[in-house]
Amino acid sequence: MNAPLVDAALTGADTATPVLGAHGLSFAHAGVGTVFDGISLAIRRREIVALLGSSGCGKSTLLRVLAGLEKPATGEVRFLGQPQAAPHPRSALVFQQPSLLPWLRLADNVGFGLDFAHQPRAGKDALKARIAAAIEAVGLAGREAAYPAQLSGGMAQRAALARALAREPELLFADEPFSALDAITRAEMQALLVDVVHRWHSAVLLVTHDIDEAILVADRILLMGGRPGHLVQEWTVDIPRNREDHPDGVAGLRLAILAALRHASP
Ligand SMILES: Nc1ncnc2c1ncn2[C@@H]1O[C@H](COP(=O)(O)OP(=O)(O)OP(=O)(O)O)[C@@H](O)[C@H]1O
Ligand SMILES: [Mg+2]
Repeated sequence: MNAPLVDAALTGADTATPVLGAHGLSFAHAGVGTVFDGISLAIRRREIVALLGSSGCGKSTLLRVLAGLEKPATGEVRFLGQPQAAPHPRSALVFQQPSLLPWLRLADNVGFGLDFAHQPRAGKDALKARIAAAIEAVGLAGREAAYPAQLSGGMAQRAALARALAREPELLFADEPFSALDAITRAEMQALLVDVVHRWHSAVLLVTHDIDEAILVADRILLMGGRPGHLVQEWTVDIPRNREDHPDGVAGLRLAILAALRHASP
């Protein structure tokens, strides 16, 4: 196993500062009205937080606001203590579709954008090493020259995860990243996600529909519901990892979340 690539002590902010802090967020789409309001949350360093909620309650919209892709109508997002006006270079995104560039080989897709001006500066060799480490971590070593069309859906999603890791993110935003995958590939990817973010010392905000995925992966689960959407409940998941080995704990929490989800659905 590779050593973690990022030493949190070297990144400048004190470790008590949450990697992401949001206060009093609301958002409205023209014609749809208020999607969510009154949302405040904090994501600690290296913490994996799952955001659950019924379809349409505003999870993806909230993720886009937290990631700096959309501006909130009210409230503020802070990244490592600083007000965030645009996506932070130390954050990374993974979506349901891997969205690889079809004309670039795997290694170039993983490295895409790393030399853009807003990225932290790094030498060519350091970038190459980062790309190689990320590809190795997701189990795609040896496939660097493959084009996206030559990858299975699971492999393409591994490549998207490698592209995110190559940014050495303090925070990884993931919106239903595994929901297009079959059950076995999905379970492999859930385990891989936990493994790599622990090694990379990254925090994660994982939007998911899947209660089991939230329980297996997250340190903390936030439940969103209502119209407009708001955060209705949260659970700290204190079931030891690997959680598949603790079916009673998983089943108990699943029932509690299911009951709250039913209650929270409009
Ligand atoms: N670009 C848009 N323009 C107008 N309305 C939108 C837009 N995107 C989303 N909405 C509306 O905002 C609300 C929240 O959508 P959002 O995609 O955030 O929900 P979600 O919780 O992620 O749903 P799902 O679980 O189905 O992905 C919905 O009512 C949706 O119809
Ligand atoms: Mg969504």
